[in-house]
Amino acid sequence: MADNSTKGVSSMLANAAGQAADSVRGALGHIGQTEKIKQLAHSAHIDNTAAVLTTSFGTQLSTTDDSLKAGPRGPSLIEDFAFRDQMAHFDRERIPERVVHARGSAAHGYFEAYEDLSSLTRAAPFAHKGKQTPLFTRFSTVAGFKGSADTVRDVRGFSVKMYTEEGNWDMVGNNIPVFFIQDSILFPQVIHAVKPEPENEIPQAQSAHPSFWDFVSNTPESTHMLMWIMSDRTLPRSLRMMNGFGVHTFRLINAEGVSKLVKFHWRPKQGTHSLIWDEALKTNGRDPDAHRRDLYVNIANGNYPEWELGLQVFTEEEAAKWPFDVLDSTKLIPEELCPVRYVGKMVLNRNPDEFFAETEQSAFHPGVVIPGIGFTNDPLLQGRLFSYSDTQFYRLGTNYQQLPINQPVCPVRHHQRGGAMQTRIVKGPNYVHNTTNKGCPFLSGKGYVHHPEIVEGAKTATRSASFGDHYSQAKLFYDSMTETEKLHIQAAFVFELSKVADPVIQQRVVDQLNNVDQPLASAIAARLGTNPPAAPTFKPVFQGVATSANLSIINSQAYDSIAGRDVAILLMPGYDSSVHELRGALKAAGATVSIVSATPAPVPDAAGASTLKPDYTFFASSSTQFDAFFIPGGRKNVDALLSDATALVQIAEGFKHLKAICAVNEGIEIITRIGLQVPIAQAAGAGAAATSAVEAFGVVTAVGVGAGGSVVGTAVGMAAGATTSLKAATEGKAGWVAKFLTAIAKHKAWDREPMAMKVVC
Ligand code: HEM
Repeated sequence: MADNSTKGVSSMLANAAGQAADSVRGALGHIGQTEKIKQLAHSAHIDNTAAVLTTSFGTQLSTTDDSLKAGPRGPSLIEDFAFRDQMAHFDRERIPERVVHARGSAAHGYFEAYEDLSSLTRAAPFAHKGKQTPLFTRFSTVAGFKGSADTVRDVRGFSVKMYTEEGNWDMVGNNIPVFFIQDSILFPQVIHAVKPEPENEIPQAQSAHPSFWDFVSNTPESTHMLMWIMSDRTLPRSLRMMNGFGVHTFRLINAEGVSKLVKFHWRPKQGTHSLIWDEALKTNGRDPDAHRRDLYVNIANGNYPEWELGLQVFTEEEAAKWPFDVLDSTKLIPEELCPVRYVGKMVLNRNPDEFFAETEQSAFHPGVVIPGIGFTNDPLLQGRLFSYSDTQFYRLGTNYQQLPINQPVCPVRHHQRGGAMQTRIVKGPNYVHNTTNKGCPFLSGKGYVHHPEIVEGAKTATRSASFGDHYSQAKLFYDSMTETEKLHIQAAFVFELSKVADPVIQQRVVDQLNNVDQPLASAIAARLGTNPPAAPTFKPVFQGVATSANLSIINSQAYDSIAGRDVAILLMPGYDSSVHELRGALKAAGATVSIVSATPAPVPDAAGASTLKPDYTFFASSSTQFDAFFIPGGRKNVDALLSDATALVQIAEGFKHLKAICAVNEGIEIITRIGLQVPIAQAAGAGAAATSAVEAFGVVTAVGVGAGGSVVGTAVGMAAGATTSLKAATEGKAGWVAKFLTAIAKHKAWDREPMAMKVVC
């Protein structure tokens, strides 16, 4: 037995833990410098500046371009150790990609607690208000291979690794709060079904193919998840603009051992926003790295994305009263039944220095927890607790925990030894119960204690009857959607099932959906040409609430910020001064302003007073990369824009994709010339004053604006940094800038959609 009472050692351990705690706490002196970043810099960073090139064994090289040969035209010699060293390593550069979630992007940052939660949990990040904990967060798609496109219709992974002074805590969630299956034993099957067809490995990164729909239509427990994945949730505008969910019920355990149940939520401060389907498809082709780029560029530009961590905390007794089982991962807890309490925020403020070493080698695992966090008997979670480390031993190797990105920032002391690529040199005995090292390392007395839940039951490979309702929450989700969102869900089912040739599978899905909503099932049947569904047989069970507002992206948004949105100003030589007025307001509100023109040459304004350097050309950019468009006036500018088809296509496509558009003065002619049928501002006629700025269907127009004109619009005049409440700055303002900023904040002009669908481009 280890001698737990040995004095000196325990105080040494306590001191070490205390020092680690202090250093984590005081680690955020300046941006990005968390304790983890300091550790990485210390242990792993290589700076090649002014360095001499060597082999991997350190021998300096005198040539890089020619291998050793027997004469300049002779055969290469195997004796060339520099060649062998380089080539043999190159031949082994790739490691297996993740079996799921292979495509991902990550960033460093920190978590900051809003309050002291120690009455609820002893988990280190919540120890006191303001406490900061370093973290690394990886977002991913599920089905695609490592090189697949970003904006495919798919669930997104949302993994957060917190480096606490009590060890690493991994929260390995998704951007959807429920899952396809209830028991992890089915996971390989659902993944085989969603991955490409086995005979030809087609299609890449999408569920729109027969094997997926064959499986899910035979697996009714997937119905709720199907509603989510056919919704706009699976087309996020940006990784910065999606939610995260821990999905399972976990435990919070306080220092006294009292446990409560919890569901974890991440809410983006940037708002939750999605692409529309046509936009997602075009983005896949034009910039398959759109999400990766967006995250990287915004962090590089200092526009750090933030999420708030929310907890739904409840007791076993409360859970017993709800009409669903909280151990069933195909169910969520409506927020009306158990409100979300926001307890802290995550800020991502630093890009990785090397993708492979950090993002690719990071290993997340829901079973990596710290004291204060515990598991429940959710059978999906239980299987995950085995699967992640198992696959990581295979993907990364026996000692993957020692890789710099996976290393905790607290001391790691154990008796694990050996294994491939061991990097630790540990002196002393390699077993517990030793006397030669006075029993060290030994038990701290503050270590992890599993919640002593009492369990009893017959060994049985069966499913709990409480998991049996597969449709009531699917219906709750569908009923909570706006009409716009319902139509998107319908269209997504029709699109996906149109890629499934077998009418039997199509019919099964229609009949499955009939238990959710008969008009939906009927509409899909009509569009697919299958038999209309019969009268539904399933009687939904009331879920404690008829609709739940936060399930709808459209209903749950504050529309109060344009921070991080990319606004394109399309211009040619001779633009008017409205550009300057708008740029200031956009920048003050935290938006990115992109100048787009025909060539990269600086573009002079009408007065010849100043020039603007384009960030992009029309030819080498795409409407899909921008959130909104501005067309200034100026006769020469507008005439030149009208003769440039690439510019006009961007505007028409922006209109089709429901993005905010603003045109002023002569710029309005472009709106009418490309046939966008929206009400526009009118110039002053004989005896009639100009109309004030007009906003209709997300298109803002104004005449006589900019210095030198009769200013109908007024600039918002937001002070720099006034990014927290756009509404407060724009509400009630009649000016064109205020109207445009409000339209951008709405992200999409949903009322334009019926009109936009008719635009041919
Ligand atoms: C609620 C359900 C689930 C969620 C939210 C989820 C989430 C995730 C996420 C976010 C990742 C990517 C981790 C990263 O960023 O590196 C991942 C990877 C993975 N998941 Fe899951 N998953 C779920 C269910 C399962 C189940 C049931 C299994 C198997 C029993 C499983 C096995 C795996 C494996 C093997 C990986 C690859 C890990 C690696 O190679 O590093 N997942 N999962």
